[in-house]
Amino acid sequence: MPILTRPENMERITTSALAQRFIDEQIADIRAQVGGKKVLLALSGGVDSSVVAALLIRAIGKQLVCVHVNHGLLRKGEPEQVIRVFRGEMDANLIYVDAVDRFLDKLAGVSDPETKRKIIGGTFIDVFAEEARKLEDITFLAQGTIWPDILESEQGIKAHHNAGGLPEDLKFELVEPVRILFKDEVRVVGKTLGLPDNMVYRQPFPGPGLGVRCLGAITRDRLEAVRESDAILREEFANAGLAGKVWQYFTIVPDFRSVGIKDGRRVDEWPVILRAVNTRDAMSATVENVPFELLARITDRITHEVKGVNRVLYDLTPKPTGTIEWE
Ligand code: XMP
Repeated sequence: MPILTRPENMERITTSALAQRFIDEQIADIRAQVGGKKVLLALSGGVDSSVVAALLIRAIGKQLVCVHVNHGLLRKGEPEQVIRVFRGEMDANLIYVDAVDRFLDKLAGVSDPETKRKIIGGTFIDVFAEEARKLEDITFLAQGTIWPDILESEQGIKAHHNAGGLPEDLKFELVEPVRILFKDEVRVVGKTLGLPDNMVYRQPFPGPGLGVRCLGAITRDRLEAVRESDAILREEFANAGLAGKVWQYFTIVPDFRSVGIKDGRRVDEWPVILRAVNTRDAMSATVENVPFELLARITDRITHEVKGVNRVLYDLTPKPTGTIEWE
């Protein structure tokens, strides 16, 4: 039986030797639990689901079926990386679902942030359930539940986001190989399993993805502006050595335009807002003191490389009074 509760005296996994011991134990536990049966996993490409996938591939190979749903709200290069790492390098049984049009069509004209979140979450469950129904002989559902999820749901802080959500006819037994780990331990385990650094040390990314950073009703052109400007910000932060230092950094594109000038002509285009914050627990946050020269360079790149953008702003607001996301 897998261990469901973190033992009080459990040593914090801080080295690859400790991670390797955990990996070996988990592989034995997973094999004992699953036997010759099949396991399904929603693989977002985030840290937790990626580490669970890598562990299960080691333990049961092709008995694991990974489903990666591209909802069109992922960061630049993410779906490609999931396919490259898991199908290409780890030879995983990976189903890639291009659901971009389905999500964006449902979101068209919807400007209320909570309604947007509900549509994104609900459509994700629908798409995943449809894929699950097409498969035969699935007994288990793997999830990237981690120890803080369990603690927070016990304390009533948040509903345990992994469990549940699937319709009644799709009730699987759960496989949760990282449920007794803290986030930093999941990262050490992922690194030891050979996952790339930009997957393992990834900054937090909300479930609704770029959808809550393309403010108001999402349009494809503004969404592209969010994705492209976010990629430039990430690249410049990485080059400046800030990628591992700043807790969360991203771009936002509001749904209004302002006048500007490009090539001697008047243009009405969108602004891009940069946000870079530090926090321990996301309950409060301070703003990163980004060097002015770097801000100027990012501004120059975004205004010249991203279609439809003529201004860049830096959000100087700590939390409170601002939240980290804009909607
Ligand atoms: P706020 O904006 O509330 O964000 O200061 C705090 C942290 O939570 C993330 N966040 C979300 N994560 N689904 C998620 O999975 C969401 O709907 C969501 N909204 C905010 C945010 O990115 C930050 O890390």
